Amino acid sequence: MRARKKAGIVSTGKALPVVRLTNYDLEYIVETSDEWITARSGIKERRIISGEETNSSLSEIAARIALERAGLKPEEIDILIVATVTPDQPLPSSACLVQARLNAHRAAAFDLAAGCTGFLYGLTVGQQFIETGAAKNILLIGVDTLSPVVDWTDRRTCVLFGDGAGAVVMQPVEEGRGILASKMYSDGSKAELLEIPAGGSKRPATLKTLQERGHYIKMNGPEIFKFAVKIMVESTLNVLEMCGKKTSDLTYIAPHQANVRIINAACKRLGLSEEQVLINIQRYGNMSSATIPVVLDEALEEGKIKQGDLLALVSFGAGLTWGAAVLNW
Ligand code: ACO
Repeated sequence: MRARKKAGIVSTGKALPVVRLTNYDLEYIVETSDEWITARSGIKERRIISGEETNSSLSEIAARIALERAGLKPEEIDILIVATVTPDQPLPSSACLVQARLNAHRAAAFDLAAGCTGFLYGLTVGQQFIETGAAKNILLIGVDTLSPVVDWTDRRTCVLFGDGAGAVVMQPVEEGRGILASKMYSDGSKAELLEIPAGGSKRPATLKTLQERGHYIKMNGPEIFKFAVKIMVESTLNVLEMCGKKTSDLTYIAPHQANVRIINAACKRLGLSEEQVLINIQRYGNMSSATIPVVLDEALEEGKIKQGDLLALVSFGAGLTWGAAVLNW
């Protein structure tokens, strides 16, 4: 039997909307304060799409940066995966719109909806195509534009989210490098903890669904908080065990950026120091599928991540879904 190739991330890129919305700005929108938001979530500001900015336009910018850094032309992409729950429109997929923007005419293109775990799901899916030899060049974009589906009258949710896109190019890498282990999980019985109840085929848009504000995110924050800390620890330990590594082998962890208290609680239980945790939530809030590729891109630009570093990526989100991966950079 032919040896399976290893899959790795060879380049990254990001795109963030121009408009910054600070906690002080939010004080004019809902009954909240910079003090509450900072203490309870770690967020100071977030980016919000405006003007011509959309899910697919941010994706295109992030993708072009990642492609250039990989020395790859759009027509060389085999598969284009857009991990998102906020496509420009219900039909067609954001991936097809991005494919057209890039003129990536050889690429198969599809969206992957796994809430905030979309990027990690996409990474595991892309890994399979590369390891089996079915694809060589995969463009994976983690993007979400949640600001249009956030209820700006609900202070429990609107302060938490932001918009952004991160892209990575995945290619075969030498044995011992790249993704050493990855795993995806789900529990649909907890679907109601985070949902947009209307706007799908079950409850299409009507005057009633609009009046009920059914097209906006509804979230049970405290329940997700408890769940998130537990599964972040469990799934990180699980993927480390899958590749024969320990937490003490890790250089960095790149966790989903939903709440700094979730990140701190999970990383403390894993025995990781502050310096090992990649965090940028203070600047962008929870950008759903974009948080991990964007935090990776920033850490690479800052020269933090170096070849040979061992990284854990871990995320959770609507579904509920969660996932983790270990990479040898
Ligand atoms: N400003 C001021 N007060 C507020 C605000 C606000 N923005 N929001 C809530 N409060 C109030 C509440 O009304 C409550 O007041 P009460 O005690 O008088 O009723 C009080 O603050 C405490 O509220 P809690 O909800 O208990 O606050 P908590 O400490 O749990 O923090 C938070 C809330 C930040 C939402 C937290 O639970 C959390 O981060 N949960 C995880 C959410 C998450 O990760 N979601 C993303 C999932 S990923 C995806 O797929 C998108």
